[in-house]
Amino acid sequence: MKEIELIPYDLESSVESLELLEIIEKYYSKSPYLPDQKKIQSGEVVYYRAFLSGSQVGITGYSKKTPTLAETIKTTIFDDFRGKGLGTSLSQAIEDECKKLGIKKILSTVYFFNHAMIHIKMKQGYTIEGYHPDHEAPGFHEYSLGKFLT
Ligand SMILES: CC(C)(COP(=O)(O)OP(=O)(O)OC[C@H]1O[C@@H](n2cnc3c(N)ncnc32)[C@H](O)[C@@H]1OP(=O)(O)O)[C@@H](O)C(=O)NCCC(=O)NCCS
Repeated sequence: MKEIELIPYDLESSVESLELLEIIEKYYSKSPYLPDQKKIQSGEVVYYRAFLSGSQVGITGYSKKTPTLAETIKTTIFDDFRGKGLGTSLSQAIEDECKKLGIKKILSTVYFFNHAMIHIKMKQGYTIEGYHPDHEAPGFHEYSLGKFLT
């Protein structure tokens, strides 16, 4: 697995938070619910740049639900870098980061049409814990995928 380095965004910086917002808007344009810059800057989600050999190849993040439960968010590989195993490495990197922070269980909600991410998560030992029809909006069904970190 390729070694991805995670560097946190400085969300207090309006330049960095705007850059992140633009990435989210680009890659989640189909999503009915997108954060705005204010929400990104709230710190509710800790976001990271994902680097491979000095180049940014994607983003990821997590949100703590309880002291030991975290949801991973917006795990994304930029278009030019897909299909090379980096999505798998990035999913592992955010899991490792959460584990380092004392998280005991992670979860991810994934749109039903996102077969690549569902495949990645199941390969990494997640199980489907729920199916949520019309979750974010009509037609946007989602799976909850969870994993206990031992
Ligand atoms: C999901 C995403 C991160 C995958 O990135 P990637 O770098 O292409 O992923 P990888 O190359 O590591 O692996 C993709 C895996 O999914 C599989 N896959 C790809 N398309 C698939 C499909 N339609 N159905 C089933 N599996 C699929 C590949 O075969 C590969 O599996 P393998 O390693 O067992 O061969 C990327 O497509 C992305 O950023 N999507 C947009 C953002 C997003 O939806 N993020 C998830 C939010 S929850």
